[in-house]
Amino acid sequence: MKISVVGAGNVGASTCYLMIAKEICSQLVLLDINRSIAKGKAIDMMQASIALISKTKIKTTNDYSDIVNSDIVIITAGLPRKDGMSREDLLNVNIKIMEDVILNVKKFAPNSIVIVVSNPLDAMNYAALRLSGFDKRKVIGMGGILDSARMAHTIVKKLDEKQDIVRAMVIGSHSEHMVPLFSQSFVGKRTIKDIFDEQEREDIIEKTKNGGAHIVKFLQTSAYYAPAASICILVEAISKNQKSTLPCSTLLEGEYGESGVSIGVPVVIGKNGIEKIVELPLDKEEMQKFKESVAHLRESLVVVDKYLKNNKNS
Ligand code: NAI
Ligand code: 2OP
Repeated sequence: MKISVVGAGNVGASTCYLMIAKEICSQLVLLDINRSIAKGKAIDMMQASIALISKTKIKTTNDYSDIVNSDIVIITAGLPRKDGMSREDLLNVNIKIMEDVILNVKKFAPNSIVIVVSNPLDAMNYAALRLSGFDKRKVIGMGGILDSARMAHTIVKKLDEKQDIVRAMVIGSHSEHMVPLFSQSFVGKRTIKDIFDEQEREDIIEKTKNGGAHIVKFLQTSAYYAPAASICILVEAISKNQKSTLPCSTLLEGEYGESGVSIGVPVVIGKNGIEKIVELPLDKEEMQKFKESVAHLRESLVVVDKYLKNNKNS
């Protein structure tokens, strides 16, 4: 398997490092407009790879012809947010970067599965889909896996030490309007409502939503280890044809009563990308919150549509 990662920043490089350590692919290409950074990180990683006795080979480049025949292209190019910025603040800058990247992916790796990571995630995934013209099953936005990990972490921190496995599910946009689902989150076989009172549940929602911003306050840039792990979960579901159900951003065409919007919902991931959208039986409150999340996201998609309309490539 050949995987290309566009953007050798914190998220792109951490993802490569994890993929090398886990030997997820035989060939890895790390592409960045700043080739020097990509090169320095790749040499460091190759030395790590030899120490770890990993079989993955890594190449750095700023030339898109090197991504030819990639099975998967992971897009992490773009600005991350600084303290006080929302992911939406990044839209006007990152859409131009996304356009440049995706038109090159279309040219050099037209049969690849694309994983979009750059923010604002859902708007970027929608833009990538429209600009590429790829089958929607092959353009996957990664945000909900990370948000679900953050929700699980928040729950774990509230529990006593010895506990069952915690599973959490967050859908909606990868933004302050994400929707943590108590009906789909469990500690062993117990539901969250069985364990936590209303005040604790409100706290779980708030901490999950602020999970990214909380880290930005300390780092002055956004997180990268958990994002890299979340990307790897998605890549492995594809490369091992796992048929895992994971929350990812995808274009809805009637599911959950919505159309024309790319937003996080549970999807079955296998070797061809998104194999199916899973329609969960949401309770009334969850469905209302999901609808609110869609409504907020549509405001960003208007900006994307306008950009694409005024641009000859759309
Ligand atoms: P970073 O600033 O460390 O790295 C971004 C890299 O993109 C830089 O190396 C830069 O040179 C490169 N780049 C910029 N324009 C480019 C272009 N036209 N072509 C190729 N490379 C280009 O940022 P970081 O922390 O790695 O974050 C990357 C993106 O991922 C941000 O938009 C961030 O908000 C997003 N993100 C998304 C997450 C998610 O769950 N979806 C989680 C964490 C970050
Ligand atoms: C995160 O959630 C900023 O999307 C990035 O950490």
